[in-house]
Amino acid sequence: MPEQRKIIAVVGATGAQGSGLVRAILADPKGGFKVRALTRNPESDKGKELKAMGAEVVAADLDDQKSLERAFAGAYGAFCLTNYWEHFSPEKELAQAANLAEAAKAAGVKHLIWSTLEDTRRWVPLEDTRMPTLRGTCKVPHFDAKGEADDVFRRSGVPTTPLLTAFYWDNFIHFGAGPQRGADGKLALVFPLDDKKLPAIAAEDIGKAALAIFKRGREFIGRTVGIAGGHETGAELAAGLTRALGQEVVYTNVSPEVYRGFGFPGADDLGNMFQFKRDFNDYYCGARDLAFSRSLVPDMLTYDQWLEKYKDQIPIPVPA
Ligand SMILES: NC(=O)c1ccc[n+]([C@@H]2O[C@H](COP(=O)([O-])OP(=O)(O)OC[C@H]3O[C@@H](n4cnc5c(N)ncnc54)[C@H](OP(=O)(O)O)[C@@H]3O)[C@@H](O)[C@H]2O)c1
Repeated sequence: MPEQRKIIAVVGATGAQGSGLVRAILADPKGGFKVRALTRNPESDKGKELKAMGAEVVAADLDDQKSLERAFAGAYGAFCLTNYWEHFSPEKELAQAANLAEAAKAAGVKHLIWSTLEDTRRWVPLEDTRMPTLRGTCKVPHFDAKGEADDVFRRSGVPTTPLLTAFYWDNFIHFGAGPQRGADGKLALVFPLDDKKLPAIAAEDIGKAALAIFKRGREFIGRTVGIAGGHETGAELAAGLTRALGQEVVYTNVSPEVYRGFGFPGADDLGNMFQFKRDFNDYYCGARDLAFSRSLVPDMLTYDQWLEKYKDQIPIPVPA
């Protein structure tokens, strides 16, 4: 029988979001899609692993529009992201998004999912002094260019679903956002959230949600979709860690100013990000509705389920 399955090209296939989509497509061979994984280096260990799992793996670079065009050729769908943390440049992120949009247009992609976040300048204009302007042009640099790029995709005419993602609980493992040991020796989660809720998700579920969106055909084209697996306060996140790790983890609230001053790369950006989530919490949570998210992915992990699955991977700083 001739192959009927449509190709989904996955940018960032070796990373947290994209690998979840690759796995979701491979786990659903009767779902109507097959997967083409994009990476700069198909011969890397991760590239080879994707191939061994059954994905087509092709070379493409976000900085090279022609390489994206070749990688999108013949694809029905494309899952697109940029990785701000690789270069810390909103300008580069915007240029990479433009390359994605142009390449998808040239290749005739029928449905593109753009992994995005808010352009926070719509809520906090640059002249607003509640938080500092960073890099000269942004309030939350790793958000703003993504949100600005929503328009780049819209203007390109490529049928697009902007997908508002959320904080990964996996940041407790990979991003240095897990429990820290305070001067008093206690384990603490340190965020500037006050008593507000943090919409968050298991990174792997972003890919599952993307597959669900592709499967719903035209329903979400031109509509922004937001997802989260849970809305927990800092205190609830710490209480979950306490239960899962069997050691007390407290929530320590700090001001955004203090957080911005922590000095690690991106601390100012993340301080502004938490302030945005705190100060516009009703909007931010509402844009990532839990019932809607679960309607896309019925088995989306809750925070407790994520903890149960991954608690052994969370690094615990040893006492001084
Ligand atoms: N951490 C969070 O809580 C969170 C939440 C929401 C959104 N985000 C956003 O997620 C984005 C990163 O996604 P992720 O976490 O899935 O990535 P990740 O796990 O850090 O991996 C980065 C991926 O991007 C690909 N990539 C980077 N530069 C590329 C280039 N020039 N050409 C082609 N591919 C390139 C890499 O592919 P190769 O190396 O194989 O080429 C890799 O697959 C960031 O922009 C971040 O702002 C993060």
